Amino acid sequence: MTKHEQVVADNGMCPIPPGFENAHADTPKYLEMYRESIENPDAFWGREGLRLDWIKPYSIVKNTDFTFGKVSIKWFEDGVLNASVNCIDRHLKDRALQTAIIFEPDDPHESSRHITYRELSEKVNRMANVLLSQGVMRGDRVVIYLPMIPEAAYAMLACARVGAIHSVVFAGFSPDALANRINDCGAKLVITADTAPRGGKRTPLKANTDAALLHCSDKVRCLVVRRTGDQISWTEGRDVDISYMMEQVSPECPPRPMGAEDPLFILYTSGSTGKPKGVVHSTGGYLVYVSMTHEYTFDYHEGDVFWCSADVGWVTGHSYIVYGPLANGATTLMFEGVPTWPDPGRFWAICEKHGVTQFHTAPTAIRALMAQGAEWVDKYDLSSLKLIGTVGEPINPEAWHWYNEHVGKGRCPIVDTYWQTETGGNMLTPLPGATPTKPGSATNPFFGVKPVVLEPQTGVRIGEVECEGVLAISDSWPGQMRTVWGDHERFQETYFSQYRGYYFTGDGCRRDSDGYYWITGRVDDVLNVSGHRMGTAEIESALVAHPAVAEAAVVGYPHDLKGQGIYAYVTLMNDQTPSDELRSELEKWVRTEIGPIAKPDLIQWAPGLPKTRSGKIMRRILRKIAENDYGALGDISTLSDPGVVQDLIDNRMNRG
Ligand code: WTA
Repeated sequence: MTKHEQVVADNGMCPIPPGFENAHADTPKYLEMYRESIENPDAFWGREGLRLDWIKPYSIVKNTDFTFGKVSIKWFEDGVLNASVNCIDRHLKDRALQTAIIFEPDDPHESSRHITYRELSEKVNRMANVLLSQGVMRGDRVVIYLPMIPEAAYAMLACARVGAIHSVVFAGFSPDALANRINDCGAKLVITADTAPRGGKRTPLKANTDAALLHCSDKVRCLVVRRTGDQISWTEGRDVDISYMMEQVSPECPPRPMGAEDPLFILYTSGSTGKPKGVVHSTGGYLVYVSMTHEYTFDYHEGDVFWCSADVGWVTGHSYIVYGPLANGATTLMFEGVPTWPDPGRFWAICEKHGVTQFHTAPTAIRALMAQGAEWVDKYDLSSLKLIGTVGEPINPEAWHWYNEHVGKGRCPIVDTYWQTETGGNMLTPLPGATPTKPGSATNPFFGVKPVVLEPQTGVRIGEVECEGVLAISDSWPGQMRTVWGDHERFQETYFSQYRGYYFTGDGCRRDSDGYYWITGRVDDVLNVSGHRMGTAEIESALVAHPAVAEAAVVGYPHDLKGQGIYAYVTLMNDQTPSDELRSELEKWVRTEIGPIAKPDLIQWAPGLPKTRSGKIMRRILRKIAENDYGALGDISTLSDPGVVQDLIDNRMNRG
């Protein structure tokens, strides 16, 4: 059974559980608001824009064009604001002493910390002054290579305060990946930490940064947070102890007024071709959108304790750990560790300890914990939970039911939120008081989102409610990315060229007879491994950079825990012989080139790769073999050497 069949087989509706009578939206309200958001976006978003504090109000709401060749996306374009003011200063009047961030460290024996809005304000102002003292100006880029510690949020908000553009690089990325991102965005400085505790181990972030900076301009400065106090090497004149500096500067830093369309951040993400793209998000539209989605999707109310277990290195962390919750004056939880350390009850221990009301995680984490047995959940009191969420990949019904029964106790709605780095915030999602759910479906569009299903080959829009095709969006929403950093052409090519007039998501989808959307996965060469997004092209180019490798092709295959696993076909140079040592060396090589998340799960030695007569690798065939579904290879008559296929089948690695 394929993943997709498994998902659609279970088609029952789960009604809205009691307790959501006072939700921000019930069904009629959702329908009415949705209708207005589509029919009259100017009025709808003009009103929603007022959820922020503006230094200068906007008079223009929407000014967007999806026409290939002149794609341009602007929202609230003449408005002036500052994101850090919206996430901090404006809350000080009423909630200075309320907790803004709960920090739960990796080691459960280390005490957790409650950072109030007042404290957050002081830290961010001080850090902003440190940035100014280092010569960071409006529009400069700052790379943040930090683990899940409050300083990551301070650093993001400090950049926003002085008008610098941050680019957070996931702390699991290797020095090479870090260097590429620093160079691509031309960052002036990097903020990192000495070492990062995670799952009882320590990641040497400063040492990684030292290695990365060997490949960057010598003008790039390095600000170091002392997380553990571990021994690190120090380059005088380049490295700055940020904790020390923060004590030296003033606790007040006036916010810089920014245009709504000034970039707030760049976040690199994988595509189907080439190197990762710098996705650029705006200040005004992005913040309006994440504030609104955080409030409605998670039905956020005063006093809630909101926990999204993502990492700040990914877009989910940007939108639903930092910007969305803080814009709404919420209490947001940051967890430094992993779900399975010191034991598989850690998530639930944290929910109990902090009285978490909304818990949001990835299906891969649910599957991993499910495999450890429900007794780890049942040990804890989860009665504070009102709602639970998933994000990042389709959730299989088995995991959905386990999550529903053991974590949500059948009384918490599950919001399955579908979106992308590019979309800024949730695009398809149930609203807890408005949408009956179906296990595995991200259900309905959020306000302002116009999904369409297109015929993949022709690009014709499918009119029937019940259908299957590729998912595109026919008009702009405020949280949409604005461009690819430094390459607007690539932005248009990637998202607007294949299906003219639409934003193309790269995902396949099915719409059922109730109009519910079911994401069936990427239709391009993007993999989703444990909820981490990766381009096959990136892994291939890392592999071929190894001197022993002549050629490589990477595809995904279904993996019980990770969703998708990484399957690499490798053709060695003539003078090389396959061996287990070489296989481990290649695994290590990819870890170093990209990071541990990109390590191939299976490497098959391929004397040749199936190619068309024009030399194009036939990925369709490689995917089938990797999926152990080689009976249905389809037409292979166009191959230049059909014989290679039999060899690949005979030596396939996935026989499960
Ligand atoms: C996939 C993560 C099914 C999808 C926020 C998308 C999902 C890619 C879901 C974006 C979901 C995300 N159901 N698939 N609820 N959420 N995806 O940029 O393939 O890391 O295109 O953003 O993840 O991954 P990204």
